[in-house]
Amino acid sequence: MRIGVLTGGGDCPGLNAAIRAVVMRAADYGYKVYGIERGYEGAIEGAIRPLTIEEVEYIIGQGGTILHTSRTNPYSEKRLAQKAPRAVYKNLRQKKIDVLVTIGGDDTQSVAAKLTAGEEIPQPIPCVGIPKTMDNDVWGTDWCFGFDSAVTVAVDAAERLRDTARSHHRMMVLEVMGRKAGWVALFTALGAGADWVLVPEEKPAPVEEMCDQLRKERKRGKKYGVVVVSEGIEHPELEEWKKRMKEVVGAWKDEFGHVRLSIAVGEWVANVIQRETGFETRAVTLGHVQRGGAPTLFDRMLATRMGVKAVDLIHEGKFGRMVAVKGDKFTSVPLSQVVGKTRQVPKEWLEFARIFFK
Ligand code: F6P
Repeated sequence: MRIGVLTGGGDCPGLNAAIRAVVMRAADYGYKVYGIERGYEGAIEGAIRPLTIEEVEYIIGQGGTILHTSRTNPYSEKRLAQKAPRAVYKNLRQKKIDVLVTIGGDDTQSVAAKLTAGEEIPQPIPCVGIPKTMDNDVWGTDWCFGFDSAVTVAVDAAERLRDTARSHHRMMVLEVMGRKAGWVALFTALGAGADWVLVPEEKPAPVEEMCDQLRKERKRGKKYGVVVVSEGIEHPELEEWKKRMKEVVGAWKDEFGHVRLSIAVGEWVANVIQRETGFETRAVTLGHVQRGGAPTLFDRMLATRMGVKAVDLIHEGKFGRMVAVKGDKFTSVPLSQVVGKTRQVPKEWLEFARIFFK
């Protein structure tokens, strides 16, 4: 058996731990592992090479991905016109690769589902998915690796911001990643004891309620505070702001149709706070700092166990599935059930967070 492994989408800490686990577990079964460079781009171009135990032995704590990554979608309109799925098929056949391990979020797994279903290719390519994303929003699993590491960085940032906020009697707004789900913002706010959190799930973002809370805190004598904001929040007033920012960064879209979100949403929230409350406010966008660096122990263990589970699924002939964590169990779910959905923050979690806004 020959296994191809790729990492797709935005990187996050833990990818190398997962690659390592796939190679190590495959050796137990006598399977050979091939690394595919730059996600599906390498599959289209045939950038495929053997991965050895020597290469992966000590990468468990290394940030990024030794295979590199991209947001290439072989099923995008442009790539379909170039017959990209067939190129993937041909290149994998050439290397005699029987099955693909796809390490990525929803976009990566949506392609894996299509390859497993045999869309636009002579024969199906069986895939097994491993969910990663710092956003922790892949449907069907309680946890994705990358999240714990990202939140650990964000909590540290929020606490640093609180120190300077306290010194200057200011408000600080920390903008974190999270396109459709506010897990990173929520856990950062809870973990750092922030004064408010704005997430994409609450539409429109309750900025008036936030300002009321901040005024209340001033009344009880607290002259500083930290607000955590997801980059993906929505508000009618923000639309105009987004339009203006788009003129600056351009109307860029990736191959899965996602627009670029670097639009300084945190700056907008800071403006609202200053305007509505009169409190001096600054904003910081944490950005890609959240995605670099060594994985936390939790992410190392999660990625390692997921990598082993993926190869065990292959050994059992269970293809077209994604590794998943449910409670304390490592299990799997059909790829077809995962794709196109987002695991968002439920109302109960937001109510829970409000206990700590006093
Ligand atoms: O991987 C998901 C994510 O972290 C989103 O939260 C964010 O919008 C996006 O990646 C940004 O990625 P990049 O700038 O690398 O395209």
